[in-house]
Amino acid sequence: MQMRVYSLAVSYALIVCAAGLAFGVAGCRSLPPSKPESQWTEQEARGAAIYRVKCAKCHYPTSTHPLNGPGLQALTKIKAMPSGAPPTDERLTQVIVQGRQMMPGTSLTDDQMQDLLAYLRTL
Ligand code: HEC
Repeated sequence: MQMRVYSLAVSYALIVCAAGLAFGVAGCRSLPPSKPESQWTEQEARGAAIYRVKCAKCHYPTSTHPLNGPGLQALTKIKAMPSGAPPTDERLTQVIVQGRQMMPGTSLTDDQMQDLLAYLRTL
């Protein structure tokens, strides 16, 4: 009996994760935690400031719930972003500069882009 309850729990967890993926959000609850603000490097803190100005109105940084765009929690630790593309620096830079569908492009200097990418890796 106990085995059965266990395997039910496992299949439930798998279904929840699969459903989350199907809806384009990282549905598994056990996402790795974000790096706490108290441990940010100077570069990560600069990136966070850019994020607040340029991205926060559309993306929650510490949740996968959508605002105007998908929540970005654990963005660089997941295998695929909502579009299915891997969260590499190249791909992130492209999305940020060019935008994507309803997301407008953002122009940043190279330094600002490096700071922002460093911050995104803390999520
Ligand atoms: C005006 C709202 C808006 C702003 C501002 C915005 N985004 Fe987005 N973002 C969106 C929307 C909408 C999507 C979903 C696009 C789609 O349909 O694939 C998105 C998608 C994304 C994705 C997922 C891309 C993928 O391949 O799935 C990332 C990463 C992202 N945004 C990062 C950022 C960052 C970083 C910034 C700040 C520089 C930013 N966004 C600013 C609305 C916005």
